[in-house]
Amino acid sequence: MRRPALTQFLIERQRAGRINADLRLLIETIARACKAISTRVNKGPLGGGYGSAGTENVQGEMQKNLDVLSNEILLEANEWGGNLAALVSEEMDDPRPTPTNYPRGEYLLLFDPLDGSSNIDVNISVGTIFSVLRCPKGASQADEKVFLQPGRRQVAAGFAVYGPTTLLVITVGDGTYGFTLDRETFTFVLTQEKILIPEDTAEFAINTSNMRRWEPPVKRYIDECLAGTEGPRGKDFNMRWVASMVADVYRVLSRGGIFMYPRDSKNKEGRLRLMYEANPMAFIVEQAGGAATDGRTPILDLQPQKLHQRVAVVLGSRNEVERVTSYHA
Ligand code: AHG
Ligand code: MN
Ligand code: MN
Repeated sequence: MRRPALTQFLIERQRAGRINADLRLLIETIARACKAISTRVNKGPLGGGYGSAGTENVQGEMQKNLDVLSNEILLEANEWGGNLAALVSEEMDDPRPTPTNYPRGEYLLLFDPLDGSSNIDVNISVGTIFSVLRCPKGASQADEKVFLQPGRRQVAAGFAVYGPTTLLVITVGDGTYGFTLDRETFTFVLTQEKILIPEDTAEFAINTSNMRRWEPPVKRYIDECLAGTEGPRGKDFNMRWVASMVADVYRVLSRGGIFMYPRDSKNKEGRLRLMYEANPMAFIVEQAGGAATDGRTPILDLQPQKLHQRVAVVLGSRNEVERVTSYHA
């Protein structure tokens, strides 16, 4: 069986009227930037990506060289295409409107250029996450306000994983699809058709070093998992925590599971960013038949208040996410 490349996949989506030529170009451009980042990641300590950049981002986190490099690669790839009104990332203080010497397009791009920064220097999978919104009609300026739309309005989202293989997962609202980078032809090839997350699971992902700070519903859920066959769940659970959301979510898409980064007494709003991490992942997971909430409300229904806002995240196998949500009720 011949597997279609990303380009053919997108052309077919365009013919079906699901995306237009501008959105197709945007996704292709992001995929190309991800290939460039993948090459840098592969070079490891030889590629200039290791180590601290010595600068802080707007959220007070120390930037790694690869955070800065990946951000630059995505910026340069996306400024001239004529399909964006503005873009913004986790590593930028403010949104950047399309430079006036290029045509202004109808889309808004948001991204986490390098997810899993703590894993760069130790050769563990990292990735890139992106989200695409439409710029509201009639907006004269592409400022912070135009981006503050609920995740439900995303027209596309995706993420790359730079692991043993480089993968790209995308949705344009008609299911979630996975592509593998063929290193001989340097093209993304469709390898996972219409991903479906199993409804049930016996595997959870959470950073248990924060346990003493969790709220009671999360503590209860994990305690019940840990109690195994002798506890109320009547079965043993396994645990995984990569500390790169891209890798943890890809595992959930592949074999099911629940992924949680709850709010706690230290991270009162949660740890993950709504616009660059939670919204795109929630869209991808819902499109794969899973669920994503902040413990109470579907992530995609939250009205963002600010660009760099953080949020609690519970996502993955539908029945487990519903259980955690019911413990919060
Ligand atoms: P980033 O590298 O973009 O800042 O994101 C890291 C995130 C996410 O990928 C991961 O799930 C989580 O932070 C890990 O946090 P801990 O180190 O607290 O486990
Ligand atoms: Mn991240
Ligand atoms: Mn990041």
